[in-house]
Amino acid sequence: MLMKIFKFILLAGFVLLIIIQFFPSGIPGNKPEDEKSIAKSSLVTGPVLEQLKKSCFDCHSDQVRLPWYAKVAPSSWLLSNHINGGRENLNFSQWEDYSKREKIGLLQKIKDEVESGNMPLKSYLLIHRDAKLSPENILSLSKWTEEATAKIME
Ligand code: HEC
Repeated sequence: MLMKIFKFILLAGFVLLIIIQFFPSGIPGNKPEDEKSIAKSSLVTGPVLEQLKKSCFDCHSDQVRLPWYAKVAPSSWLLSNHINGGRENLNFSQWEDYSKREKIGLLQKIKDEVESGNMPLKSYLLIHRDAKLSPENILSLSKWTEEATAKIME
């Protein structure tokens, strides 16, 4: 009897897993990097740019590196949430579309999020260990936000 129930649950789970594959994940498409990207501006260069690419671009840019499980529900739904939510708040690829004021506001928020350890998201760091920021990384990012702000205000 118990075995029968177990088999049924297993089968039902399997069927459900197949059914959910037909629901679109809503992961937005990527675009090639263009002139609007912060990577093309003189605002950020060298190691800081590399750090942003490594730790933030997977949710805050149009150049997202998608892993294989981005194609499989339900993990694809989580990724979709992260990327859509991330881009909505801050898209480094569309940086030049922000006004001066918005840029300064965003730089302040980047500083806050990085210093408080809110970003990159914890769930992302579980899988992407190399995206984790060391105390030195946090210091240099935070210093960069101040320098960039001063540059924008010039
Ligand atoms: C796994 C995806 C992911 C990664 C990686 C990530 N973010 Fe985010 N970020 C989000 C999401 C989702 C939101 C919007 C929801 C929220 O605030 O939690 C967000 C919001 C933000 C905000 C806006 C916060 C606010 O209060 O308006 C800033 C600034 C930010 N992230 C900076 C960064 C920086 C800097 C990095 C890299 C060091 C980074 N994020 C890495 C997903 C991510």
